[in-house]
Amino acid sequence: MPELSALIIGSGFERLAPGEPGDRIENRFGTPSAPIKAIEIAGQRVLSLARHGEPHSIPPHAINYRANLLALKEAGATEIIALNTVGVISAVREPGQIAAPRQILDYTWGREHTIFDGSDGKVEHIEFTEPFTARLRLALLAAASRADLDCFDGGVYAATQGPRLETAAEVNRLERDGADFVGMTGMPEAAIAHELGLDYACLALIVNRAAGRSDTPIHADVEASSVSARTLAESLLRQFFQASPERASESS
Ligand code: HPA
Repeated sequence: MPELSALIIGSGFERLAPGEPGDRIENRFGTPSAPIKAIEIAGQRVLSLARHGEPHSIPPHAINYRANLLALKEAGATEIIALNTVGVISAVREPGQIAAPRQILDYTWGREHTIFDGSDGKVEHIEFTEPFTARLRLALLAAASRADLDCFDGGVYAATQGPRLETAAEVNRLERDGADFVGMTGMPEAAIAHELGLDYACLALIVNRAAGRSDTPIHADVEASSVSARTLAESLLRQFFQASPERASESS
């Protein structure tokens, strides 16, 4: 089957997919956050969906992750690149940089987190040892290397409930648990993508130091670092979608 890539676009990235919002097509899990748009990056057709809605109005705990992912699958997507803003906990990188995390810790609660909810009388336990698709994660890192830009390889993404930011003590606990990054939207998105058989990898935009890790107020950190992280992510994506002979023939 030819690859069709989709981007799930997070906070501050909506401008990557300009254009008039169309209809949000409902599916068995409800209504997705926003209409799916077909955009072009480096000559490739790519689907995109704004996770927080258009305009940005859906907080992380209220996103219908199941409806978003099923909508992308029904539109033909086979692989998802999830753009997630994060705070950095450990010293692996600084605000303004990007990363392709390798592991997840899930602290979210009360979200619709599975398509296997028993409603159809079936019980399924997917394997989730490696929460991100290795091929896709490595392809993102290879694109970074071709574009000669720095993208941290690995690290643990801790998904918190939000919408408030963490306390300093919570961040200390996340660090003791082994987390390098903290964000609010990585889960249950990654798990549901897995359940739906979609390849899925996270491109994390580091926009601040996590709570208690800097004297700069977090929102000022975000203000100062977002453009740089976004510019790096956009360059990486352009390189990723640059027509290699295989991708070009797959998508024609
Ligand atoms: N915590 C949780 N989510 C985030 C952060 C943070 O510090 N920065 C961006 N998303």
